[in-house]
Amino acid sequence: MTSPVKNDRFLRALRREPVDCTPVWLMRQAGRYLPEYRATRARAGSFLAMAKNPDIACEVTLQPLRRFDLDAAILFSDILTVPDAMGLGLYFVEGEGPKFERPITGMADVARLGVPDMEADLGYVMDAVRVIRRELDGSVPLIGFSGSPWTLACYMVQGGGSKDFAKIKAMALNEPATLHKLLEVVTDAVIAYLAAQRAAGAQALQVFDTWGGVLSPAMYREFSLRYLQRIASELERGQGDARTPLILFGKGTGQYVAELAATGTDGVGVDWTISLEQAARLAGGRVALQGNLDPTTLYGNPEAIEREVARTLDSYRDGNNGSREGHIFNLGHGMSPDMNPEHVAVLVEAVHRYSAR
Ligand code: CP3
Repeated sequence: MTSPVKNDRFLRALRREPVDCTPVWLMRQAGRYLPEYRATRARAGSFLAMAKNPDIACEVTLQPLRRFDLDAAILFSDILTVPDAMGLGLYFVEGEGPKFERPITGMADVARLGVPDMEADLGYVMDAVRVIRRELDGSVPLIGFSGSPWTLACYMVQGGGSKDFAKIKAMALNEPATLHKLLEVVTDAVIAYLAAQRAAGAQALQVFDTWGGVLSPAMYREFSLRYLQRIASELERGQGDARTPLILFGKGTGQYVAELAATGTDGVGVDWTISLEQAARLAGGRVALQGNLDPTTLYGNPEAIEREVARTLDSYRDGNNGSREGHIFNLGHGMSPDMNPEHVAVLVEAVHRYSAR
């Protein structure tokens, strides 16, 4: 089978093949900065009600694609669906973010965890993937995703968001065997979750290691990288044009690009605290790179956005032997609710125009 999508720039870039211009998508491209998202959310009642209804999840996945010339769609869901399916009881408090009713406090809690049944417990996610694939009708590829084991464990042990990660870092120091046992079962679940999304139709897969950068290098290697390695080596992805590429995104983990590239992943995503020139040198042509515009650039005016887009594109080229191949343009982290949709249009257009050859 040849390429299953009409616009295959994103998949070609992940294979480091030539493209007519650099592909672009944006983390959190569906979200509260779009008035149509806020309207759908008001009708559905809550974020979780949206994520658990495959037709609504499909609708919000497509919203940014109707406005902007994006080169990929990302499944509308959340990384915390997996711990929820493991029995922790996910809920959202308005203005406070995600929380768990039953956080992990020690070995007894970890011993009770098992890998969820993907169709029975997370069938709504797989249904969303199938509905979105049908509605995209081959226009652009669909990205499925999961949290990294470390990042999921952060929420599972802290019971929600955190500033200092005190509980999970204390567990890493005082009870490393408990944390490793937790990370093992979460890794099993992540691999099964990504495999199920692939089987349902996801054409690329991204792992979000949002909190990898809060660890010291020694702890990062022990508690995050080791489990990313397991995912990259154990997740079956196919071959050639039919391969479902994997992207490992980390926030604050640019210094580990060479080690991430060595895992066997297809792509590595970085934030803006490393230049793409330096990241590309560390990657050494072994993987595609995704990133890395500071999201707050979208608070700048259109001229500033265009200037920073050009700088980002050229930084990658300078570190990649003068070639733009193997770059997927993205933000270094997600969009915020107060961003201006018109500025997103400026960004997407600037990426395509400036990188075209
Ligand atoms: O990128 C996309 O458009 C796809 C959808 C997506 C969401 N969450 C939707 C969402 C993805 C890929 C995620 C991943 C996710 N979820 C991560 C990793 C990426 C990152 O941002 O670092 C994390 C850490 C989470 C956990 C999570 N979910 C938090 C901390 C929050 C609250 C954030 C906030 O801004 O209130 C959520 C809720 C959430 N997930 C929203 C969206 C659009 C906001 C929901 C709403 O109130 O409408």
